[in-house]
Amino acid sequence: MSDAPKLTAPQHPLLQHKLSLMRDVHTGVKEFRELAAEISMLLAYEATRDLETEPTTLTTPIATAQFPMLSGKKLALVAILRAGLIMTDSIVRLIPAAKVGHIGMYRDPETLEPVAYYSKLPADISERRVFLTDPMLATGGSAVAAIDNLKAAGAQSIKLMCILAVPEGIKRVHDAHPDVEIVVAAIDEGLNDHGYIVPGLGDAGDRIYGTK
Ligand code: PRP
Ligand code: URA
Repeated sequence: MSDAPKLTAPQHPLLQHKLSLMRDVHTGVKEFRELAAEISMLLAYEATRDLETEPTTLTTPIATAQFPMLSGKKLALVAILRAGLIMTDSIVRLIPAAKVGHIGMYRDPETLEPVAYYSKLPADISERRVFLTDPMLATGGSAVAAIDNLKAAGAQSIKLMCILAVPEGIKRVHDAHPDVEIVVAAIDEGLNDHGYIVPGLGDAGDRIYGTK
């Protein structure tokens, strides 16, 4: 029997406060970007909780002793363009040795299905733990297609990191890829007729890049 798909939604006050500011329609591009970057780092703290460490002998100015250092598989951060880029750009500051991949995808406004236009992944992705980033998990179409792409390239260990999700998007990802844990800052009610998250924060890519 397989394990139930994992969902992590940390209820941290700092995270929730920053997300509320992101939601505010009056928040401008600069602050929106800064908040997205800060939330991404807080989410990375949660998403990397189970990284392996091993005791390593080091000498402090006072004594020689064993201290935990990261071990195990190396990491890869993969952004779903455009909006996921702001997340990998900030997380790589915490994990500077991670390789970074990009999957270009936009949602067709009529069908709401993802249209793929680019993919560049680390060649050794099968040997890395992959953290896939996209602030918005709405219908789940983009995330499922990106995970399909990662698995086709050999990825075996994938976590999806999002800022906002809705139950239908979570279900779609978990139905298609039950092995993929989702780490998300908040789960909203659902989608409107145009596939936007309600109450949501609007179009993440447009708010990050000041387009539209
Ligand atoms: C947004 C978002 C996700 C997708 C989520 O991207 O960043 O990739 O929509 O929707 P879904 O779960 O229904 O697939 P968008 O298509 O607006 O592209 P952009 O980031 O280039 O603006
Ligand atoms: N993509 C976004 O950027 N926002 C939504 O609410 C849904 C999909």
